[in-house]
Amino acid sequence: MSKRLKIAIQKSGRLSEVSLGILKECGIDVKNGKSALLASASNFPLDVLFLRDDDIPEYVADGIADLGILGENVVVESRAKIDIVKRLDFGRCRLSLAVPKSVAYTNITYFNGKKIATSYPNILNDYLAENNVTSEVHEISGSVEIAPNIGLADAICDIVSSGSTLLSNGLREVQVIMKSEAVMVANRYIDAEGCQILDKLLFRINAVMTAKSNKYIVLNAPNDALEDIIRVLPGMKSPTVVPLATKGWSAVHSVLNEETFWDVIDDLKANGAQGILVVPIEKMIV
Ligand code: PRP
Ligand code: ZN
Repeated sequence: MSKRLKIAIQKSGRLSEVSLGILKECGIDVKNGKSALLASASNFPLDVLFLRDDDIPEYVADGIADLGILGENVVVESRAKIDIVKRLDFGRCRLSLAVPKSVAYTNITYFNGKKIATSYPNILNDYLAENNVTSEVHEISGSVEIAPNIGLADAICDIVSSGSTLLSNGLREVQVIMKSEAVMVANRYIDAEGCQILDKLLFRINAVMTAKSNKYIVLNAPNDALEDIIRVLPGMKSPTVVPLATKGWSAVHSVLNEETFWDVIDDLKANGAQGILVVPIEKMIV
């Protein structure tokens, strides 16, 4: 039997759907969803393990899984000896301190002598020590946000994404400790054959991520405006210019990055571009 890698992803939670979605966009077919603990890809040497995100660092460090997709916050908290091999640009969130809305909060010294409930004791203790604050840290594994309401703590330290969990529990975010996003982690001892599979997977993920942050653009322009238009359009190498049936006009094809997108569109219009089409890109290999 030839070599396969195992990737651990969150069984249910903020990251689980998108994590599976990425594999799918990479053309990796994972059958039987999340009902089983383990699923195999039919067309790529990859098996998927569905786990609680907090368990993923240990599994990857021990080599039970070779790879994992999880929040950077969980990686840092675990202190596991694993490597981040790719930042995945989704699941952005903050690890924050929050207090009941009614509290008149001034600054971090507020937490001196207070009880803080969290699932992130390591990160929180480091942060408090750096700020010379002494608090009573209570580690609880879930539903941290209800702790102040039931008198278990004065404050919490937990993940904030949309902020709706805080809002519905009458809490207010007062201090951001770390910013986080989903990352791919890897075991440190993957063999050569395994590394080849990982490289192939990362190649596909890069193609999907690059495509997402770029758009394909097609526009028409009078030939005497081409020089100015090409100057504002970088493209992958240089734009493609093809003549239109109408004499003296050309079509220009290129690729635009999302970040500069609207500025470039404004420049193109100002330089005489017409009939601008913008099309999503499915995969992009640079
Ligand atoms: C976090 C956190 C909150 C929620 C916050 O859980 O514990 O419950 O997300 O999100 P919101 O600001 O959009 O309401 P996470 O997804 O990290 O999963 P967990 O159950 O493993 O802690
Ligand atoms: Zn978790």
